Amino acid sequence: MDDRIKPGHDDATNQPKLTANAEHIMAGAMPYYITTPIYYVNDAPHIGHAYTTIACDALARFMRLDGRRVKFLTGTDEHGQKVAKSAREAGVDPQEFCDRVSQNFREMTLLLNISNDDFIRTTEPRHIKACQVLWQELEKRGEIYRGSFAGWYSVRDEAFYEESELVDGKAPSGDDVEWVEEENYFFRLAAWQDRLLEFYDANPDFIAPKSRRNEVVSFVKSGLRDLSISRTSFTWGIKVPGEPKHVMYVWLDALNNYQTAVGYPDTKSEEYSTFWPANIHIVGKDILRFHAVYWPAFLMAAGLEPPRRVFAHGWWTVEGQKMSKRLQNVVAPPKLVEEYGVDAVRYFLMRELPFGSDGDFSRHAVVSRINSDLANDLGNLAQRVLSMIAKNCAAAVPQPGTLTAADETLLAASRGLLPRLRVDFAEQAFHRGLEAIWQVVSDANRYVDEQAPWALAKNDPPRMRTVLYVLAEAIRHIAILVQPVVPEAAAKLLDQLAVAPDRRDFAALAGDALVAGTALPKPQGIFPRYVVEKDGEKAGKGG
Ligand code: MSP
Repeated sequence: MDDRIKPGHDDATNQPKLTANAEHIMAGAMPYYITTPIYYVNDAPHIGHAYTTIACDALARFMRLDGRRVKFLTGTDEHGQKVAKSAREAGVDPQEFCDRVSQNFREMTLLLNISNDDFIRTTEPRHIKACQVLWQELEKRGEIYRGSFAGWYSVRDEAFYEESELVDGKAPSGDDVEWVEEENYFFRLAAWQDRLLEFYDANPDFIAPKSRRNEVVSFVKSGLRDLSISRTSFTWGIKVPGEPKHVMYVWLDALNNYQTAVGYPDTKSEEYSTFWPANIHIVGKDILRFHAVYWPAFLMAAGLEPPRRVFAHGWWTVEGQKMSKRLQNVVAPPKLVEEYGVDAVRYFLMRELPFGSDGDFSRHAVVSRINSDLANDLGNLAQRVLSMIAKNCAAAVPQPGTLTAADETLLAASRGLLPRLRVDFAEQAFHRGLEAIWQVVSDANRYVDEQAPWALAKNDPPRMRTVLYVLAEAIRHIAILVQPVVPEAAAKLLDQLAVAPDRRDFAALAGDALVAGTALPKPQGIFPRYVVEKDGEKAGKGG
């Protein structure tokens, strides 16, 4: 039985109707468009890229399981001075360079089990067209003018800075700046200051977390200057229509990828009208300003709708240090996956930090999460229960008898998870969602100890069957709910409970229950312990 609430429809337009707060409560076929930043192809993928992508993937999977029609986009940012410089240093033509490095990001999505629906590259014709049309639209509306620019530019940040923003002659990020004087086109950003502030006011959830929102609001309040949006001192970019000497500022080009992927400039298309405005752009804190200030201003200026939400997550250090090529401490996703396994990496990144805060990635922290949360808590629970069923219940789902208060309590806790998780995921509080699930894992482990089914096997087999049934049902709930974060392990667990592939979405939580007598396959461990050898240096996966 599908007990989901179906979305209401606006009679006039037949579009799904959104009521306040309905977004995360409603679980019908409401569209949900989520994006990662598009990654610069100047560099190989590292843990920072993996982090944003995994968070988006967890959210995309959650929404799909909750019945939403999801579009999940990631891709690569290929124009601009920084990429041109890297291509030059590598001694290859920029397009060839982009083709090569973009492929590494595509491979990262496969490696990390990312469920993106599209992968955009800003050198694709669909995107070049989308940017040129956006430019013309802004021009037509009088939002662009020609002028001359003189100021500081950081190639690494691809950002302009005011003299007053520099810290010891460098960008606030610590990166080098260079003096730029060029004939440029400008976007009338200053004129959007008040409308941006009104927009933030009217949409209190547009920027998250709250502390970041406050930073953006005070930045805008402190006064905005018009923004240079074309460059003439290099050529690796999208040409400004009718001005072949100018290429577009890489951030105008890059931000517009979110619209290209849903069919812009065809704003009448099914895809665009379904998915625009995007529900959420998840980005790192370093690029919040571009997404929360420039992007809504560009869109409003072109008569288009700004996205609904921008969430800025924190940064990882590695063993206490900033990641850098110089320190040779850059953590590459393939290495991590090889060492710990894809689900463990995904789980660690989503569980270790409150999403939004900074944190440290250390081998010690990863290993202890794997061994305590995954191997000990969830892995052991599943292993204990499934092997007792295999041994004592003829390898089939046992027949439950009358339920006791303790049984009801554990089942109620399992059933209570989904409404909580909807709130946590709608707020991007992934760590809190996982914590809630693991609370039930630990309730279940306590219940096993208290009920002692191994003793019941000898003196009260019917009661043992009830206890094992209740546990299997709790594990079914847990396995369905951990799918967004640990998809492979969850699938193995659901296979072991003989849950049909089409009965694994959130509707099946309340709609289904395990059926007594269903034959179960031979149990297998899902989360191996990570064994650290005595000298603490060499380690390998244990069984
Ligand atoms: N190309 C731009 C984004 C354009 S979006 C229209 C860009 N690319 S990036 O490759 O430099 O960075 C992409 C993301 O990686 C950013 O969200 C950034 O915050 C994230 N991270 C880079 N290093 C990071 C850590 N050490 N920790 C966490 N995330 C970090 O910016």
